Amino acid sequence: MLKEFAHNRAVGLGKAVTKFLPDRVPVTFVGRGATGELCEAIAATGTERLGIVTDEGLIAAGIVDRVEAALDRVGVSWSVFSGVQPDPTLTQVEEGLAQLMAKGCDAILAVGGGSPIDTAKVIAAAATNPGPIQKLEGTLKVKQPTLPLYALPTTAGTGSEATLAAVVSDPQTHQKKFILDPKILPSMAALDPTLMIGLPPHITAATGMDALTHAVESVLARTTTAQTEAWARMAIRAIFSSLPRAFAQGDDMVARKSMALASFYAGLAFTRTSVGYVHAIAHSLGAFYGTPHGLGNAIALVPVLEFSLEAAAPRMAMMARWSGIAREGMSEREQAEAFIAGVGELSGSIGIPSTLDRLQADDLPAIAKQVVAEAHMNYPVPRYMVQGDCECLLKGLLP
Ligand SMILES: NC(=O)c1ccc[n+]([C@@H]2O[C@H](COP(=O)([O-])OP(=O)(O)OC[C@H]3O[C@@H](n4cnc5c(N)ncnc54)[C@H](O)[C@@H]3O)[C@@H](O)[C@H]2O)c1
Ligand SMILES: [Fe+2]
Repeated sequence: MLKEFAHNRAVGLGKAVTKFLPDRVPVTFVGRGATGELCEAIAATGTERLGIVTDEGLIAAGIVDRVEAALDRVGVSWSVFSGVQPDPTLTQVEEGLAQLMAKGCDAILAVGGGSPIDTAKVIAAAATNPGPIQKLEGTLKVKQPTLPLYALPTTAGTGSEATLAAVVSDPQTHQKKFILDPKILPSMAALDPTLMIGLPPHITAATGMDALTHAVESVLARTTTAQTEAWARMAIRAIFSSLPRAFAQGDDMVARKSMALASFYAGLAFTRTSVGYVHAIAHSLGAFYGTPHGLGNAIALVPVLEFSLEAAAPRMAMMARWSGIAREGMSEREQAEAFIAGVGELSGSIGIPSTLDRLQADDLPAIAKQVVAEAHMNYPVPRYMVQGDCECLLKGLLP
């Protein structure tokens, strides 16, 4: 009871903070030519040497070559750091920072999914904020403006190109550390669907469910506003219609573009409202088993919606109407239940399992402890969860 009271106080504070967040949105180029347009805009800033932050998968996929060629065409010199790994650690940030600063880079371009974008954000911040990188952890700890920062997302999932957040793990414990600051929002981004056509189906599925989770948790958050709801609405509608197509037919450019926009809008929404228990669970599963972020969210989404139903049926019913799941004559409660079933069907249709193979019964108390601790003072969720609720929910995810 006392904990719930503290939680409610934190939610009140969160609401006040949301009101005063700067409403900056990155300058965004969208569509087939977006990579070239972003490179032209970077050239116009007078950048002397651009540090590209990416991973080996994107080098192998030929995506980084295409970006380099676009930069060559507009006369911007570049250096590449490709040492980012999924769920990046502080060690990778330190390596990237040392490498790119030694080359004299004066601006940073992230090319990749959430892992390279988050790494790039922290590198750009650490470059202008001397001292241990750990000092940037937390809320509003980035004192000086970062190096100019740009993003080219190649997954449609995290929306990190639109968020004030970066997530990096402690290399020893693998616990996620959060950096939340408007200064790490990229100033320009390009949503180029041609960079996403080679994204393998299983990554398309998991990252797309991450975007859906951002939109849904943002709508359920008690900090939601008319604007965040409008962004989430666009994202939810687009994901229900486009994710199965992007999964089944990777080169469907219309579906890829729609997913890129959905992920961006969901990012704009959740960075102003917050996420909730689905993310807290995905973060812990990532720390315990290395479960990819999107997959952890995708598996936890339906159980958390079921848990939250009694406190959030009207909002879930609204999402059922937005996504075309609600049918005439359904009561509000039926619409809400249909929404949860619809999320489960979407997930199943793109190969997401409903249980996690690596989950161990013995780990449940420790995972639940992390989940409730992460959510407790941070997430303005509609229904508060205690340790026992969380363990019970996690039991349902056992293989
Ligand atoms: N900052 C935020 O607001 C925010 C929000 C949600 C998640 N995250 C973080 O983002 C990270 C996850 O990012 P992600 O889900 O985008 O995955 P990711 O960046 O880890 O990439 C996953 C894999 O996909 C490959 N890949 C990416 N794009 C490709 C393409 N177009 N073609 C072929 N292969 C491609 C990569 O090489 C990599 O192996 C996690 O660390 C998570 O905590 C951050
Ligand atoms: Fe996420």
